[in-house]
Amino acid sequence: SDDARATIGLTGLATMGRNLARNIARNGHTIAVHNRTTAKMTALVDEFGDEGDFVGCESLEDLVAAIERPRAILVMVKAGEATDAVVDELVPLLDEGDIVVDAGNAHYRDTLRRQEALEEKGLHFVGMGVSGGEEGALHGPSIMVGGSDHAFEVLQPVVESIAAVVDGTPCSAHIGSDGAGHFVKMVHNGIEYADMQLIAESYDLLRSVLGLEPTEIADVFDEWNGGDLESFLIEMTAVVLRHTDAETGKPFVDVVRDAAEQKGTGRWTVQDALDLGVPITGIAEATFARSLSGHTEQRAAAREVFSTTPESADVDRDTFVDQVRAALYASKVVAYAQGFDQIAAGAEEHGWDIDLGEVATIWRGGCIIRAQFLDRIREAYSDEPDLTTLLTTPYFAHAVTDGADAWREVVVAAVRGGVPTPAFSSSLAYFDGLRRDRLPAALIQALRDDFGAHTYERVDRDGTFHTRWAEEG
Ligand code: ATR
Repeated sequence: SDDARATIGLTGLATMGRNLARNIARNGHTIAVHNRTTAKMTALVDEFGDEGDFVGCESLEDLVAAIERPRAILVMVKAGEATDAVVDELVPLLDEGDIVVDAGNAHYRDTLRRQEALEEKGLHFVGMGVSGGEEGALHGPSIMVGGSDHAFEVLQPVVESIAAVVDGTPCSAHIGSDGAGHFVKMVHNGIEYADMQLIAESYDLLRSVLGLEPTEIADVFDEWNGGDLESFLIEMTAVVLRHTDAETGKPFVDVVRDAAEQKGTGRWTVQDALDLGVPITGIAEATFARSLSGHTEQRAAAREVFSTTPESADVDRDTFVDQVRAALYASKVVAYAQGFDQIAAGAEEHGWDIDLGEVATIWRGGCIIRAQFLDRIREAYSDEPDLTTLLTTPYFAHAVTDGADAWREVVVAAVRGGVPTPAFSSSLAYFDGLRRDRLPAALIQALRDDFGAHTYERVDRDGTFHTRWAEEG
């Protein structure tokens, strides 16, 4: 109609939706906004109306009528059934070529399903991964778009203008069709789990083995942030460790209950990796470590029987700090290599043409795992787009080989002192497993053939073999 003057629309004005809407308006786009409960819509327009051009809409009909064609509508309602309900309500109101965008944390399989359903109706469905939390949504997130070329072309000007920018490049990309954006966002979150677990293990080692105070550990993290490890999470760790609880005067980290929660994206990543057959040990251990921390009753029962205090060790402080730094970096390299392997495998499985270097590029800003390190990954894939593993590229090979002795020393110290370091240990095991000339998998194949006649291959001849184990010598 003639009043259709908005470039884009958005329904669902909880924190993420509201911040995204403000970001879009602040960047000069006219945005039509709607929320099931109208009060949230009017509150947004009243409070932030002077930040840009908002068109307040009281119904989905009004929302649709306010947007220029082809329409693009961001759906930012609660993930799951609410998204389906709102999409179902929108569909009859839309015209061919219109685009429905789910910018929430949907599982990519839901996105695949919704895309298929809308395609049948001549509509476009986009799964848009938005990373960076509330702050990112407002000031510049990292944006992973999955959808048709047509949909991306329509969304591109808005998406690029609201994304974070690093070295003049917006942290947004058309990752691939349908579920590709949400898939990559999922793995991003998995990597975030691994990153945080590795940081937590480093902190635990410095505190338990060296006996450092949280503020001293904050200094260590600040120092690390000046080197290869420079990243948002390392910087924030120093901030958190320096924080004191106003009420008790204790280090803040000591008054927080030690049971980590999860919203599910780490679990999705691990479930998907199991289906794809990709060993993402770092992400898996990080996810399990959160689960273990949450098993309060089992932990209490175990503490009663096996009470223990990790022993500090007689090690040189500066040496150990540097060994932990090297172990953290090497383990981080492994976790990212595994995550990128999963993205490559997912792309192959679902027929997505994902540019892994581009993924690294758009994670450099806006998102929680933003880090200097991602530039190295970007370079590795631009040198060699079909890379077999990130680990063997010169820069990362150097990091893991150089750090290997320290990595081993740290895991030994952890095991000896009773400090659990599942992510450090499993990353080292992954590295050792990959580079081993012969793996005991040969024995496993022989056993499978023995009890299940599953057959095996030989190192010296082509073909598939079965041995009658009971009879043959
Ligand atoms: P919060 O993020 O505040 O916990 P939520 O329950 O996850 O809230 O809902 C987030 C957004 O989804 C809200 O904008 C909510 O609309 P209301 O403000 O009217 O509650 C919206 N939402 C949730 N379920 C919905 C549904 N079935 N239909 C339409 N919008 C819905």
